[in-house]
Amino acid sequence: MPHPARDLEGLIAKGSPEENLLSQIDFKRLPRHIAIIMDGNGRWARMRDLPRVAGHRAGIIAVRDVVEISARLGLQVLTLYAFSLENWNRPRMEVNTLMGLLREYLKKELDTLQANNIAFKVIGRMEELSPAIRRELTEGMEATRGNSGLLFNIALSYGGRAEIVDACNRILDDRARQGAPRPLDEATFARYLYTAGQPDPDLLIRTSGELRISNFLLWQIAYAEIWVTDTLWPDFRKRELLQAIVDYQKRDRRYGRVGSEPEPVGLPRRKVTA
Ligand code: IPE
Ligand code: IPE
Ligand code: MG
Repeated sequence: MPHPARDLEGLIAKGSPEENLLSQIDFKRLPRHIAIIMDGNGRWARMRDLPRVAGHRAGIIAVRDVVEISARLGLQVLTLYAFSLENWNRPRMEVNTLMGLLREYLKKELDTLQANNIAFKVIGRMEELSPAIRRELTEGMEATRGNSGLLFNIALSYGGRAEIVDACNRILDDRARQGAPRPLDEATFARYLYTAGQPDPDLLIRTSGELRISNFLLWQIAYAEIWVTDTLWPDFRKRELLQAIVDYQKRDRRYGRVGSEPEPVGLPRRKVTA
């Protein structure tokens, strides 16, 4: 996957808190993939005595802001959790509004995505969306497929367990056709996921203070660093994203080992045998 270049011209005001955060970021160690559970739209609206859907509408501004800063920073992949399989159980009116907002977003933003060299991809059970939305999403994906900058995944009608089951069914289909030459390994399995070919998220963000995963990217977040903020999604902006990256870069990612310091040279490497 090519590395999009960073382009921050005119994006951050001089002397702002964002500029201060930016100065703390090591661009050689950016997370390759950031995944975000956008939560708290309903609570944001309730705090203002507005209907829940007003919170969803306000959340679009945050989406725009985060997509733009991610592309300009030079991230490889951004995944936004927009609608889970479980969210189909919400009141009909709320589901319809969410679908309407999605269509509106796509119509308004497609040109901006193109201009910023962003490739747009839907992950999830698209077959459960209405044919009209499916067509518009497919057109959006096809129009931006060749873009080499940020890959923007939108998780829609998405469930982590469903993704794993869908992968298993595709593997079974392939094996029924071609036979099973060798046992399955993790790398092969990952090629059957919706995110095939993409790096796993390095950083998982959840807004609104909830400490749960809600069926998001269950396979891919095995070693993601988790960052939770009390900020409700409609209030999430560049500043929060930059703060999350600064904090991420202070973490010690051990992957089960003892420490991240390089091993001392010259010592014999002992194999664990029991
Ligand atoms: C996140 O906000 C958006 C979706 C899940 C579609 P919520 O609608 O879950 O807002 P809260 O959690 O009720 O505040
Ligand atoms: C998770 O938020 C799904 C999305 C952000 C799309 P929810 O609001 O649906 O999650 P729960 O119900 O609090 O776990
Ligand atoms: Mg919620």
